[in-house]
Amino acid sequence: MLRVYLCLSDIDQRGDRVMAKVVGILGSPRRYGDTQLLLRLALRAAEHDGCQTELIWLYEEEIKPCLGCVSEDVKACRFPCIFEDYGKLILQKIREAEGIILASPIYWYNVSGPMKNLLDRLTCLENMAHIEGYSYLEGKVAAAIAVGKDTGAMMAISSMLLSLNSMGAILPAWAMAYSQAADVLKDEEALMDAVNVGLLVSGLIRRLAGQEGRIMYLYDPKLCRQLLREVLLERKKD
Ligand SMILES: Cc1cc2nc3c(=O)[nH]c(=O)nc-3n(C[C@H](O)[C@H](O)[C@H](O)COP(=O)(O)O)c2cc1C
Repeated sequence: MLRVYLCLSDIDQRGDRVMAKVVGILGSPRRYGDTQLLLRLALRAAEHDGCQTELIWLYEEEIKPCLGCVSEDVKACRFPCIFEDYGKLILQKIREAEGIILASPIYWYNVSGPMKNLLDRLTCLENMAHIEGYSYLEGKVAAAIAVGKDTGAMMAISSMLLSLNSMGAILPAWAMAYSQAADVLKDEEALMDAVNVGLLVSGLIRRLAGQEGRIMYLYDPKLCRQLLREVLLERKKD
């Protein structure tokens, strides 16, 4: 618990509100597809709650698959990983963030390939437990989003959340949003859940920093519509 407070002690403060950083990791090859939409909505909600956010697109460049150094020698796997690739840059951004939202399309009942590569590569952050005594993901607040057109959302979400939690991240209640609808824009439950993903990640970060923060689900269709409008406008400008 002490380390949670240490890790959060560096956060800039504006008045009495924590200006935490939340990174959203987009694991869809379709940069402006449905997964991106729910992720942007979650990030917008986190911004609305006072966080800084950054969206990282996994398909921007190559993320090499993990080579399993840890299985050879437990001390050989360490941050920042042996590869000089885009994955290394993303690991650094995750290291610096207080919140992580992973978002993947459902590809055959699971996450997309680059998202799986990233999950495996996170091992170098987690394995610092064997080198420095604690996981570099410890105390970070995480959530996940999955989007498909048929079925498999739970497996994709489980893959992301179980991995993150096993590596030291903390999951807020209602830490997930998913859609399997034909039109994600008409999936009101998924849209509201995505807003809550952002709000709850932000709220728990502030709670862990000893400040006030909402950790209960907020059913607010008006706020959801407002944030969605902002996201759609922003998407047009891109
Ligand atoms: C290789 C591949 C596998 C897929 N497997 C599933 C699946 O198992 N379940 C599902 O619901 N949708 C599946 N889909 C459909 C996508 O998840 C769906 O089109 C999703 O909206 C894509 O997200 P995007 O709009 O961000 O690209 C698959 C699509 C592809 C290309």
